Order: sequence, then structure tokens, then C-alpha cells
Amino acid sequence: MRNYRGSATLRPMSDLSNKHIVLGLSGGIACYKAAELCRALVKEGATVQVVMTEAAAQFVTPVTMQALSNQPVYVSQWDPREPNNMAHINLTRHAHAMLVAPASADFMAKLLHGRADDLLSLMCLARSLDTVPLLLAPAMNKEMWAHPATQRNMAQLRHDGAHVLGVGQGDQACGEVGDGRMLEPDELLYELIALFQPKVLLGKKVLISAGPTFEAIDPVRGITNLSSGKMGFALARAAHEAGAEVHVVAGPVSLTTPYGVARTDVRSALQMHAAVMAQVEHADVFIATAAVADWRPAQVAGEKIKKGQDGLPSFEWVENPDILADVALSNRAQAGALYCVGFAAETQYLQAQAQAKRVRKGVPLMVGNLGPATFGQDDNALLVIDEQGTLELPRAAKLALARQLMAEIASRISTKEQV
Ligand code: C5P
Repeated sequence: MRNYRGSATLRPMSDLSNKHIVLGLSGGIACYKAAELCRALVKEGATVQVVMTEAAAQFVTPVTMQALSNQPVYVSQWDPREPNNMAHINLTRHAHAMLVAPASADFMAKLLHGRADDLLSLMCLARSLDTVPLLLAPAMNKEMWAHPATQRNMAQLRHDGAHVLGVGQGDQACGEVGDGRMLEPDELLYELIALFQPKVLLGKKVLISAGPTFEAIDPVRGITNLSSGKMGFALARAAHEAGAEVHVVAGPVSLTTPYGVARTDVRSALQMHAAVMAQVEHADVFIATAAVADWRPAQVAGEKIKKGQDGLPSFEWVENPDILADVALSNRAQAGALYCVGFAAETQYLQAQAQAKRVRKGVPLMVGNLGPATFGQDDNALLVIDEQGTLELPRAAKLALARQLMAEIASRISTKEQV
């Protein structure tokens, strides 16, 4: 049994540990969200250098940003605190990324022309294009956002290599409603974390089933299991971070959809089967993490079954369809265009049972985990089993394991594509 690249730690480091981020603020009311973002970046382990335009300093003060970042804040390129008076060079050379949030329409128009008449735009121009990626988080009124000049400027900035992020939709500070709100701090944090993940599944479409199913007995009761959906949702996030387009079909779980992931909610195994099958045509990878109920009552009572009427109730059971096995039999999987991954939750003989299940379901990869040690937990330990053998991924946070699993899946797909 192989060990995964020595990553035996129980908890991963914070996602931005050892990362130095330049957080730029241009003028806009969304500056108040940048204060919260700054705090979140620091909490995630980053060191943060805040640089503000004069306009941004009208909305939040450098004092606020200094207290949150625990670093001196720069506004002017003439700042005498730099011994060589070259803040634009000194502040960009050790950065792992620059994020301008908010990026106003005017600031982006300026960047587009390579203008540099304030410290922040000067830094955007002076940074190394190869080593310091630039993320822009636009924020503006909906009419400014929709204006052809803004749209044209953003297209050109993308062409020049900037990551122009999306915007939110909804109430605007001016009282109007529409597109142009800056993304929320947690969404911007996600974008930065994702930036540093290897894009091993770029352009792939990944379909994931997650959570338990619920099989109704009557209108108020049913059978289900203890699956929380956390492993499936961690995989969805990791796949999206790896550059994939991700769709989750989720049983009844109380989890927030990972940023950027599409989701269909279902309740029963039959509904999950239909929802998964509807997506199979579009998928390149299917990961079945759902703990699908094996059986369902043959009949669902129309009214609540009352106790004490005819003794104890008895039920006739029928077997649910095996979603994974059916997907593995689909034309797309049989043609080698869809790579299928199963999850086996066992209580004993994990390796042997998971390997047998892999063969029985006709899938190239089966991931084994111990049911009681994973259901509802934030950590897990996995066995990755294919026809070559077994790889052990020691106990770690589910997101850390999910990222490792994406690398394993990606390497197997690319080997297959090269053959
Ligand atoms: O329940 P079982 O141990 O057979 O589950 C193993 C794998 O098969 C899991 O990936 C699970 O999501 C999938 N499965 C399924 N449909 C079922 C039962 C299991 O897709 N009805």
C-alpha cells in the first residue's frame, strides 16, 4: 500500500499560509467590504499589504486597513517611508498576487491604457506579469457596469492577462437594483484560494452525487442514513478550484453550495437517479459520493400510518436502482468519454470490499472509507483503489483529501487520453 506524498498531517495549513497578497482599493462604496476581506485574508494565513487610491480613502480610512492588516498602508507613490522612494517596486516584488477590490470603472479604464498616475495603478503596471497575477473585483452602478465602454475595457484587461472576476446582482448603494455589486468577501477569498490550486481539471465537466437519500414510508416518515454530504461538497469545491465546471446532485443535506458550483436538490434514490442520468451526457467525470438507500418501501402510504391499529406495521421493500452502475453502463462511459469514480463506505475489510465493489460496479476507480469515521465528520481517511492497487490517503480535512483525489483522478484521465 502506498502512502500519499507524506502528507500525514491531520489538519492542512491555512489555505493562504506563506502567501503575500497586495490588496488594492480603488474608490467605491464597496470599500467597506474590503475591510472584512482584509481580515479574512489575514485569518487564512496571508500577509496583506494594503494600497489605496485617494478616492478609496474617502470611503474607508488607511487607519482601519492598517489595523486589520497589521501593516502600514500606502496611498501615495511619494511616500517617504520607503528608503529608495520606490514603493511601486518594493511593494510588488514579493507578492504572490494582487487583488484590487473594489476595482472601479475608472480604475479599470486607467489600467487598460497602462496609465500609472497613482501608486496602485503604478504597481499594477510595475508588477512582474509572469509571477504576480492580478485579480480585479469590479464594483459599480448597474448602468456603469452595462456600458459598452466598461464591457470593452474588461474584455481587453482579460486579454492582457488580468483575472477580471464576476459581480453580484441585487440592491445597490444608489438605490437601484441590478448587476455590478462587488462579490462578497467570502467569494473573493475563495477566488484567491482557488488561484493557487493547480488547474488539473481545466475545462472538464464534473458531475457529483452527494449526501443521503430519503425513502418515504408515509407523508411524515421515511428511512435515510447518516451521510452529511460533506465529502461530496468538498469534492465539488476541489473540482471547481481545479478548473472544472461542476454540477452536484444532492440528497437532503443542510450544506451551502460551494461557490461557482451548480446544484440540483433531490430527495429519493429514484429522483437522484433521474437527475444524475439527465446530466451524464455533459459530464467527463462522475463521482458517486452519495450514500444511496439500497431499498425503498414498495408502497408509500397516502396518510400517516397510525400506531396501534393492526399491531406493528410491516413493509414490503424493493431495491433502488444502482446509479453508479447505470452510469458506468451508459454509452458515454462505455465509449471511454466519462470517467466513473465510486465511494465505498464500509465498516470492516475496507480494502477487500471496496476492490470487489469496484469490479462489480464496472468502474475504474473506487474510494474506500469507513462509514462511522466519515459520516458527519470534517476529517476522513481514504483508500484509492484501481486495478493497479491501493493508495492510502491518511486522515486529513475532507477538503485536503478532495484536492488530493482531484490530482489522482486528473492523472488517470490524462494517462487514458494519451493512450
Ligand atoms: O451502497 P454501495 O456500497 O453499493 O455504494 C457504493 C457506491 O455506489 C457509491 O459510490 C454510491 O454512491 C454508489 N451507489 C449508487 N446507487 C445506489 C447504491 C450505491 O450510485 N443505489
